[in-house]
Amino acid sequence: MSVADTARLAWFFGRLAVKERVAPRLHVRPLVAELFLTDNCNLRCTSCGCWTTNTRGELSTEEWRDVLRQLVALRIHKVNFTGGEPLIRPDALALMAYAREVGVRHLHLNTNGIRLTPPVLTEVLAAGVRSFNVSVDGPTALVHDRIRGRLGAFETTTRHLRHLIAERDRLGLKVRMNFTVMRDNVDSLPGIAALAQELGVALYLNLVTDRTFLFRTEAVTGQTDVAGDRLDAALAELEAVARADRRWLPRYSELRYLRGHFDDLVQRDLPCAESQLKLMVHSRGEVGGCWAHDPTASVRQRPIAEIVDAPAYRAEHARLFRKECVGCGSNYSLNLRWRPGTYLADRQWRRGRRSLV
Ligand SMILES: C[S@@+](CC[C@H](N)C(=O)[O-])C[C@H]1O[C@@H](n2cnc3c(N)ncnc32)[C@H](O)[C@@H]1O
Ligand code: SF4
Ligand code: SF4
Repeated sequence: MSVADTARLAWFFGRLAVKERVAPRLHVRPLVAELFLTDNCNLRCTSCGCWTTNTRGELSTEEWRDVLRQLVALRIHKVNFTGGEPLIRPDALALMAYAREVGVRHLHLNTNGIRLTPPVLTEVLAAGVRSFNVSVDGPTALVHDRIRGRLGAFETTTRHLRHLIAERDRLGLKVRMNFTVMRDNVDSLPGIAALAQELGVALYLNLVTDRTFLFRTEAVTGQTDVAGDRLDAALAELEAVARADRRWLPRYSELRYLRGHFDDLVQRDLPCAESQLKLMVHSRGEVGGCWAHDPTASVRQRPIAEIVDAPAYRAEHARLFRKECVGCGSNYSLNLRWRPGTYLADRQWRRGRRSLV
């Protein structure tokens, strides 16, 4: 990260601290835009509602180009392309390239990896994307394919992920393997840790939720029923793996948060930076600020700057920052990152003075 980028992030987190302790009404402008290029998908995950309907009326190429120009004018620091599966949109690569062309400095892609073949990766890299999350929901085909609803998905995704990791080592990319913890894969936590270490890729443990848009279905609710004893057993094994070798694994404070999640979805003592950091543009143009925020305004009606600067939008996001929300655990690692106490807790864990279960 450049000095300017580090300074910008430090400024952002500094303002969050002021907002938390001194000036609750302080307006912290978003730094990152998350673009849901489509709500449609080429997989059928049990944890997700994207594939259950065919969403129509999504923003056109020209509408997305306009969104990107507006984001640059808003001084957005980074654009995340996501979905649904962003790579099923025929114009996805052109939109990434356009984002770079109009001046977005950092581009990120969330993908299930199915379409990230070596030739497509070459184009994605040429478009300027330097950071990736690839979803792997199990350490074996048996677990992953059952959750992802497609035989052969594990083989394809991990093959493309291995190639991406090789390119990372050559080009200095940022790559994370995203594992969403849920009822059907909680026992695989030690296994996914071992896979991350075998591949040499950072593991992010995402937390299943049925509270937010894209994920409000009955099948997903079933996945949120994670029994405490199974979680404890899996975390105890994961802790043993991490004590032997911490490389590529989440830090202690993150695992601690994960342990608390299924008993207390909100964990209100930790403010939500996500609600301040992000500006989300949904596939049909609605603008929101966090996963559980159901937006009412759309880029089809008003400019983005006007939407995010409106008093009602700001007041709602001040409430979300205080976690007056349904709780979803989204990007909890970000929320922990600006809490100095978590680094102390990690150190105590490393010295054997704390343990997970
Ligand atoms: C909605 S997907 C979009 C990008 C891409 N299709 C993928 O699967 O990575 C973004 C992330 O959400 C995760 N996810 C799926 N269902 C979820 C749920 N119910 N709660 C939280 N995250 C979920 C996925 O595993 C993925 O890592
Ligand atoms: S999690 Fe991703 S790959 Fe799975 S159905 Fe949802 S959008 Fe598609
Ligand atoms: S924890 Fe609350 S404020 Fe944060 S992203 Fe989830 S719903 Fe939004």
